[in-house]
Amino acid sequence: MNTQLFQKDFISTQDWSVDDLTTMLEVALRLKADFAMGVPQDLILRAKTLYMLFFEESTRTRNSFETGITQLGGHGVYLTPKATQIGHGENARDTGIVLSSYGNAIAVRDCRTDIGQKYLYEMAQHAQVPIYSMQDDVDHPCQAMADLMTLVELFGWNLRGRKFVISWTYAPKYVRPLSVPQSLVMLMPRFGMDVTLAYPKGYHMMPNVMETAYKNAEIAGVKLEETNDMDAAFEDADFLYPKSWGPIMVTEDEPEVEAMAAQHADWRVTQKRMDLAKKHAVYMHCMPIDRGHEADDEVIDGPQSIIYKQAENRLHVQKALMALTMGGRW
Ligand code: CP
Repeated sequence: MNTQLFQKDFISTQDWSVDDLTTMLEVALRLKADFAMGVPQDLILRAKTLYMLFFEESTRTRNSFETGITQLGGHGVYLTPKATQIGHGENARDTGIVLSSYGNAIAVRDCRTDIGQKYLYEMAQHAQVPIYSMQDDVDHPCQAMADLMTLVELFGWNLRGRKFVISWTYAPKYVRPLSVPQSLVMLMPRFGMDVTLAYPKGYHMMPNVMETAYKNAEIAGVKLEETNDMDAAFEDADFLYPKSWGPIMVTEDEPEVEAMAAQHADWRVTQKRMDLAKKHAVYMHCMPIDRGHEADDEVIDGPQSIIYKQAENRLHVQKALMALTMGGRW
């Protein structure tokens, strides 16, 4: 266990070693067990403040971070550009320096393409406290860690040889960022899983992310494959993570996005498709799900679905992240 994580930023899982990430999971599992037993945790981050800056909306991320810091004895402050001078153009540097002179960590959600993650790293360069990504245009590290924690709980620590499938699914309107599939394709090979990424033409990831993912797979000695065939991807899978994302590398123009997506309305998760996978295969999703389009309700609400466990574990991995980087050693 590496406990030397005090003051460390968490903008991408790539910035943390496998040992560091394993520590986060171990602490998360411990905090979750203690929480279930009613063990008080409010001395861990007593009187510490987390600023949570959201450029976009959130249900899970905002509430799990805010609840988490409260349970650890601290306080969360919800910020938006409109509620701050960011809306009038104050930059990441000035915002980061000022907020870090008051509190103990700053978490940011900024999914603006080609802006979001750069904003976070810019803030991290100047702020005196840890900076966390609550999702950006490139990565959603807390989501990916909650997903990994859920698999560890259900299947154990040894995930080597398991087939993890990330698949595009149809959703008619909302242009979702690439950050969830990208966070998964970079992280899961590092924990021994063979990863298959399935998407229709035009829905590919950022080239530098795939370069990182292939490098991670090579180092870990696992397979990473891309396909345009959803059924072939599902065959013999252990873990299925089908979700929609936008054709960000091609266009973000809404009418074009809608027209492109409409050609692939058959990229939907049905029980028949689930049956192509192994018997014990699980259905995963970061939520929100576009019900009626991405997957049938019988799958979403069926016995193979672990979506609510994933959402629940957001609380515990983020508490572990905060405890290790805001608390810990002085
Ligand atoms: N999965 C996730 O990040 O959900 P929210 O957008 O509701 O935070």
